[in-house]
Amino acid sequence: MSMLVLGIDTTCDDTSAAVVRSGQTILSNVIASQYAAHEAFGGVVPMIAAREHARQISFVIQAALDKAEVRFSDLDAVAVSCDQGLLLALVVGVSAAKSVALACNIPLIGIHHLEGHICSVLMGEGPGPAFPFLCLTVAGGHTLLVRVEDHGQYEVVGSTRDDAAGEALDKIARRLGLGYPGGAAIERVAANGDATAFALPRPMIRQKTLDFSFSGLKTAVVRVMDEHPDLCVADLCASFQQAVVDTLVIKTMRAARQTSLTRIALAGGVALNSLLRKTFKKAADRAGLQAFLAPRALCADNGAMVAGAGYFLYRERGADPLTIETRANAPLGRLSV
Ligand SMILES: [Fe+2]
Repeated sequence: MSMLVLGIDTTCDDTSAAVVRSGQTILSNVIASQYAAHEAFGGVVPMIAAREHARQISFVIQAALDKAEVRFSDLDAVAVSCDQGLLLALVVGVSAAKSVALACNIPLIGIHHLEGHICSVLMGEGPGPAFPFLCLTVAGGHTLLVRVEDHGQYEVVGSTRDDAAGEALDKIARRLGLGYPGGAAIERVAANGDATAFALPRPMIRQKTLDFSFSGLKTAVVRVMDEHPDLCVADLCASFQQAVVDTLVIKTMRAARQTSLTRIALAGGVALNSLLRKTFKKAADRAGLQAFLAPRALCADNGAMVAGAGYFLYRERGADPLTIETRANAPLGRLSV
């Protein structure tokens, strides 16, 4: 079934719309970043995010259509992230999607934002992982290990008990005065540092649980900063980045063993980190597992992954009513535990 789907994502601080054919062919993927609006605050301010989404959304949708060289009347469906994110930010995207669905008389599909991230690993150039597979989705707002049974069928096997990995990176970057977004800044500075310079903990790796906790690691980094006021910032960034990456990869490999899954995937904004990509792939190779990395262009929040997930969900369960709501925190899939 060939379908042209408009995907909209306004979950956090990126206003994005994309046109994707049949869950695979990305005709456009327009992202208007709000970094400049939040930079002075060192992090995302929810009210400002909502206001910026409202300012940008119609232009971003039009740009996605123009870039794809299609018109509203060519669209077969509209998909939108309605679950998981900043509530007021989600409301802007969902309202826009409802308007498009109503005006064009096409199906509306609401997705959980993390379904989009998971779907991104299926949207690369090469073949994606066959079901079932294990997916580590890691970003500023979430750190989750998910057993992906099929489209729309998930079992969360591990998640963070406090800070998300990306959140910890952002907070330390802010503390070091490296700017926002923090993950990219830490990676940039870490490139000139020694990752063995500071002995930092790899939280909870000795425990059987597949959950993460990054708040203790963050505290350990702050303690090092307090104890060594003249420290080499590059060395600290490199040591911190290595600790985050090691923790994520160790837990993923443990989850693969516990779930007996042989295909592991990596998605989300922190999946842009080169050290994480390399270490993830290396660990998979060593253990005889197949690794699948989300394409770099689909790691940060984007509309294409939403259009992709929306297409597959529509095939499974059909359209959603125009009454769908937004939820800041929502369980992922019917198999969530
Ligand atoms: Fe995200």
